Amino acid sequence: DQVSKISVTFVDKDGDEKTIKVPIGMSMLEAAHENDIELEGKYSGHLWIEYLGGACEGSLACSTCHVIVMDVDYYNRLEDPTDEENDMLDLAFGLTETSRLGCQVIAKPELDGIRVALPAATRNFAVDGYVPKPH
Ligand code: FES
Repeated sequence: DQVSKISVTFVDKDGDEKTIKVPIGMSMLEAAHENDIELEGKYSGHLWIEYLGGACEGSLACSTCHVIVMDVDYYNRLEDPTDEENDMLDLAFGLTETSRLGCQVIAKPELDGIRVALPAATRNFAVDGYVPKPH
């Protein structure tokens, strides 16, 4: 059967999960915005925390769409990041080994069930002793 949509779970800063259906070919950034997972940056103390903002609308000129793939197995199913993406990721807050820019992660059948966290969420998890697990 042709898969037309995949399941994607976003984990927000409180650890709350929201699972949405994302059409094949749509970026995680677009999908988040279509589903009101539309978060912007804010100050936390003196730190600027970037949520899934998408300031440059996917043109690789910002890092506000930074997401963290919570399962390395899914991370490995993604196309390799371009040099442009890596340059932007280097500027992202809370960079991890499985960080990507949400505007560059495009839904495809192999990604069904992927879980992505926002950078601030991961930081809070660390504080709470939360360890992301493959599901
Ligand atoms: Fe700017 Fe993704 S939205 S790099």
